[in-house]
Amino acid sequence: MIHVSHIAPADPDALVAAFAGTRWARAREHFARHLDEQQQERRVTFVARLDDTVAGHASLVWTSGYAPFREQGIPEVQDLNVAPQHRGRGVALALLDAAEREAAKRSTFIGIGVGLHAAYGPAQRLYVLRGYVPDGRGVFRHGEPVREAETTRLDDDLVLYLTKRL
Ligand SMILES: CC(C)(COP(=O)(O)OP(=O)(O)OC[C@H]1O[C@@H](n2cnc3c(N)ncnc32)[C@H](O)[C@@H]1OP(=O)(O)O)[C@@H](O)C(=O)NCCC(=O)NCCS
Repeated sequence: MIHVSHIAPADPDALVAAFAGTRWARAREHFARHLDEQQQERRVTFVARLDDTVAGHASLVWTSGYAPFREQGIPEVQDLNVAPQHRGRGVALALLDAAEREAAKRSTFIGIGVGLHAAYGPAQRLYVLRGYVPDGRGVFRHGEPVREAETTRLDDDLVLYLTKRL
């Protein structure tokens, strides 16, 4: 049974514990900042529980740091993560559902960025199967397009942005 709610003051500690020791571990301050930004109505952070255990999280940010989304008023899903022991049970689908429902209150599109190396393979498949389409601008690093024939590093900062009509 998957339950998704908005992040609450007690959640940062549980989120830190859920991801401790994994490649996707975050400091408590990371989630505390999400809570602050949610209170300021800049972000909505969703926390998924599987049978009452915190299993994953995702955020919806109203003003994207990616200029094409920002200029078109497209809210962006950020920081979608499911703890490794809870993967493959529909938690990410439930989080995306919640983010898409929230975005639809203000926008006809939703956006997301995904890394290009294999650690993002499940996310790449998930987004395509879920109807997200590349935005047609190629890949970006730190907000700048990577130009044709340019040499770059295939790390977490090399991102392809996708959108979905809601
Ligand atoms: C990507 C991620 C969020 C998926 O979470 P999840 O809860 O396991 O995903 P779900 O169980 O909801 O799966 C939804 C669909 O995604 C696809 N998918 C998920 N994991 C997959 C995998 N390992 N291989 C291939 N497809 C996968 C499948 O199509 C799946 O649907 P199906 O099971 O009906 O075939 C999770 O693997 C994760 O946290 N990865 C590391 C962080 C990350 O990459 N975040 C995204 C940043 S952009």
